[in-house]
Amino acid sequence: MNTSLTDMLDRAFGHPRGLLGRFGGSVMAYGNGPTERQVVDIAKPAGEETVLVIGPGPGVGLRYAAERAGLVIGVDPSAEMLETCGRRCADAVAAQTVRLRTGSAAATGQEPASVDIVLTVNNVQLWQDRAAGFAELVRVLRPGGRLVLSAHEKWLPVPRHVLAGEAEEAGFADVQTWTWQPPGALASTAAQLRAYRPAD
Ligand SMILES: C[S@@+](CC[C@H](N)C(=O)[O-])C[C@H]1O[C@@H](n2cnc3c(N)ncnc32)[C@H](O)[C@@H]1O
Repeated sequence: MNTSLTDMLDRAFGHPRGLLGRFGGSVMAYGNGPTERQVVDIAKPAGEETVLVIGPGPGVGLRYAAERAGLVIGVDPSAEMLETCGRRCADAVAAQTVRLRTGSAAATGQEPASVDIVLTVNNVQLWQDRAAGFAELVRVLRPGGRLVLSAHEKWLPVPRHVLAGEAEEAGFADVQTWTWQPPGALASTAAQLRAYRPAD
């Protein structure tokens, strides 16, 4: 792929910024919305549980999670996406059941063992250091807490069984992976993973 196309795709989807980033946010809200919601359904947040969403982008899944959990925290390095997500979840932000801040998988800004669920959709391929990312997610989950990860299979940086091994290396247990076909003729297959922080 030539450099300017790679740069445009990064501005639209990878690290959304500027006009292209806002356009990318609309495309992702439409195209990735079903997967974002399906991942929340797998994690089944309930009652007063706290959910941490890594890279929520335009916030479709984050909003859906906020309708089901006690508190949802979104961390994303993109100012444009935090703004879009904030608009989508304005009522929940005002009610303080959604918090949004700048961060990344490797630096979430969360206290240790402070969340019940971590969700991450379509951003593991962007983590600069996956070992550091998985280690951070183990650190912030309470013992027994769960991680649900999804990514377009074609964009996975490594095959999903290797990703599962990396999650285990970082301290996750009961790691399962599978693929899921989102609805729509053009939708690409998602590779998904569920794992738990071992109970103490
Ligand atoms: C392809 S978009 C996916 C957004 C949304 N989850 C979806 O599936 O539509 C990638 C998102 O991850 C964010 N991101 C990029 N690098 C990240 C990192 N290292 N950690 C967490 N999020 C990251 C981007 O800013 C962007 O919002």
